[in-house]
Amino acid sequence: MKTAVVILAAGEGTRMKSGLPKVLHRICGQTMLGAVIQSVRRMRPDGIVVVAGRHLGRIRDEVGTDGLTYALQEEPLGTGHAVVSAMSSLEGFSGDLVVLNGDSPLVTAGTLRKFLRLHRQKKNDLSVLSFIAGNPEAYGRVVRQQNGALEAIVEEKDADRSQKEITEVNSGVYVLGPGAVGLLGAIRVNPLKKEYYLTDIVSLSARKGLRSSAFCIGREEEFMGINTRDELRRATRIMRRDIIADLTGKGVEFVDPETVYIDRAVRIGSGAVIYPNVCLQGETSVGREAVIYPNVRVADSRIGNRAVIKDSTVIEKCEVGEAAAVGPFAHLRPGSVVGPDARIGNFVELKKTVIGRGSKASHLSYLGDAAIGKDVNIGAGTITCNYDGFHKHLTVIEDGVFIGSDSQLVAPVRVGRGAYVGAGSTITRDVPGEALALSRVAQQHVPGWAGKRKSKKK
Ligand code: UD1
Ligand code: CA
Repeated sequence: MKTAVVILAAGEGTRMKSGLPKVLHRICGQTMLGAVIQSVRRMRPDGIVVVAGRHLGRIRDEVGTDGLTYALQEEPLGTGHAVVSAMSSLEGFSGDLVVLNGDSPLVTAGTLRKFLRLHRQKKNDLSVLSFIAGNPEAYGRVVRQQNGALEAIVEEKDADRSQKEITEVNSGVYVLGPGAVGLLGAIRVNPLKKEYYLTDIVSLSARKGLRSSAFCIGREEEFMGINTRDELRRATRIMRRDIIADLTGKGVEFVDPETVYIDRAVRIGSGAVIYPNVCLQGETSVGREAVIYPNVRVADSRIGNRAVIKDSTVIEKCEVGEAAAVGPFAHLRPGSVVGPDARIGNFVELKKTVIGRGSKASHLSYLGDAAIGKDVNIGAGTITCNYDGFHKHLTVIEDGVFIGSDSQLVAPVRVGRGAYVGAGSTITRDVPGEALALSRVAQQHVPGWAGKRKSKKK
């Protein structure tokens, strides 16, 4: 049996009070829609259709098109109308259609898969995923017949007093078999809200005698629909907690999990230790037994096994090799690669700089657009002058070079293998391998100068 998924994301989301389409608000580094898509992909469906409204272009730009089809719902006329808008993208499809909301980012692949399995075991035409809500007001109530059979879903606005007491609610996740899909056209506009409710398909199916059931397998937290910023904040807390619990289970040590922020895409190896106030963002991976000390932010970077990132360091779009040490107070800007066993110390900034195995820049340096070899020592205060006001230029420092403290390397320039640069030099020409380069003014002594100065003053 084939499976297609329709994700409803055309609602306006006015209650978020922002110019951003609702499903593009972020949760743990992903858009809400991206989070839903990630779970949906794990079901390995044959197709995924995202229904979007007037923000379609913006949503497509942000979320991408990989394995996704976008369908336009021209006007937000309700969830039933939204699914109908997806049908032109599904021409010729005759399998199970999983429908879910784009504003429920905590949904997990495991629950979705279990739900689809139950639908198929029961040979249903229509299945609804339900859960018991502490506060059911925001959701459609699952109305059952005396024998427990599914009868209808009734929204708060349309519910009578006894229906309002029902705590089993609709998660917004459904499977529609071909029989149920055939009923979409029969949904009539809701007289109160002037919208086509997808939920009406439940009573229509019951009347037609189709096989339908509600599977109460959801956790309330997982199906929280996000309509306001406050709900998004609560959902973020839940996702954050789950991410940390998952990583803890995989052998990561968090010294104070309450203060750590880890995006959903982050991978951390076992035996790694994460200290307080650490922020790991985007596509970041941290190797086995690495240590990240307090107040560090790492974004879209790879940190190798046994690497140590010391306090108050920022690393963006970089690679740090195995057993390397970075920080405290280091800034690794995009495109930098720190080789295995290398050391980057305090107040060192790297930008688009590759520094090889075992090399050291321990104090107070700016190294930009530089290719630095193995076993190089960069003295304190060294600066690559990579920018002439118009263009950026490359500095090459070959293996085994020693750059004395407070030197400037005016790029483009190359320091050959094994060369020495004397402290305080300004290097403007290439230095041959094994040479000593010195460009500072020779030291002079004026004997007795201080005494003469004093007598002048009198
Ligand atoms: C809906 C369900 C409710 C369920 C709840 C679960 C209906 C009528 N009600 O209510 O039973 O308990 O979800 O969270 O379906 N959307 C469109 N086009 C539209 C309207 C909505 O694509 O014209 C999308 C929204 O972007 C959203 C989803 O559909 O992702 C749900 O819409 P929303 O208005 O949030 O429905 P709820 O009132 O939460
Ligand atoms: Ca909702």
